[in-house]
Amino acid sequence: MKLKDGSNFPNFGLGTWFLGENPLTRAEEIKAIRTGIEMGVNLIDTAEMYGNGLSESLIGEAIRQTGRDSLYLVSKVLPENAGSTRLEKSLDATLRRLGTDHLDMYLYHWRGSYPLEETVGRLQQMVDKGKILRWGVSNFDTDDMEELLEIPEGRECCVNQVLYHLGSRGIEYDLLPLLRDEGIKVMAYCPLAQGGSLRSKLLSSSVVKEVAQKNGVSVFQLLLMFVLHMDGVCAIPRSGRSSHVKELVEASRMELSEEDYRKISEAFPAPNHKTYLDVV
Ligand SMILES: NC(=O)c1ccc[n+]([C@@H]2O[C@H](COP(=O)([O-])OP(=O)(O)OC[C@H]3O[C@@H](n4cnc5c(N)ncnc54)[C@H](OP(=O)(O)O)[C@@H]3O)[C@@H](O)[C@H]2O)c1
Repeated sequence: MKLKDGSNFPNFGLGTWFLGENPLTRAEEIKAIRTGIEMGVNLIDTAEMYGNGLSESLIGEAIRQTGRDSLYLVSKVLPENAGSTRLEKSLDATLRRLGTDHLDMYLYHWRGSYPLEETVGRLQQMVDKGKILRWGVSNFDTDDMEELLEIPEGRECCVNQVLYHLGSRGIEYDLLPLLRDEGIKVMAYCPLAQGGSLRSKLLSSSVVKEVAQKNGVSVFQLLLMFVLHMDGVCAIPRSGRSSHVKELVEASRMELSEEDYRKISEAFPAPNHKTYLDVV
């Protein structure tokens, strides 16, 4: 898909929350990231928050041999570091851990106490310096987006990363239409329902199981296919196992028929009224 600045944006990438935190699973996690890259995935999503930098360091190690050029690296700044004094320092530390001189996308992880103008101004400076190519936000609900868009430079925002899956569809009511109108893409986190609502109901649903079986995929793969069916949405599922990453990449390349989409959509309908954004 295309971002509002005309650049290409992948519709699928690897999430990395919790990766890099356990020395015992480190080798398999690096293998999982490399498996994704070898299969052609280029977007990797991380954050300075994840393991207090450990996830970014793990990615840095995983991509050292594969090279950075073909990758689309996304990281996030914590709210307490999103003011004019700390943001650049945070970003520099992120770049160091990843072993790169720029990010493709830098996200404001969630809204904190700094005025939006201050954070946005600093993000734009980082674009001017070439340390990030573009920026976006995360966990911004409709009212936050409206406020952001009132700031002139707020319109430079390219994506909003929010929780979205078959059991948590509140964004379809008002946030997704607003973002579409503004040409802002959605990055769906927790596409496999690790957080948000109804996880156990989704995994045990006879409708979901039946549609998954019909398509020859697992329930997790079907959950991913549901998110990817939505126009303008990029999904970033996470796995620390190479076999799971392989399944996710394969599912990201499969199409869900309109009939099957409708079946699972009717079993877990989107709300027909405003609900506050789900977060983890
Ligand atoms: N912006 C934000 O505030 C925010 C918040 C949360 C997450 N995120 C981002 O979004 C990413 C994804 O969200 P998430 O990590 O919370 O949850 P998720 O992707 O919905 O689910 C991850 C869980 O699914 C399991 N899994 C993955 N592939 C599987 C497969 N093929 N079969 C069975 N189980 C599978 C993983 O276990 P295994 O490792 O054992 O495979 C893990 O327990 C994060 O990693 C992070 O990058 C952003």
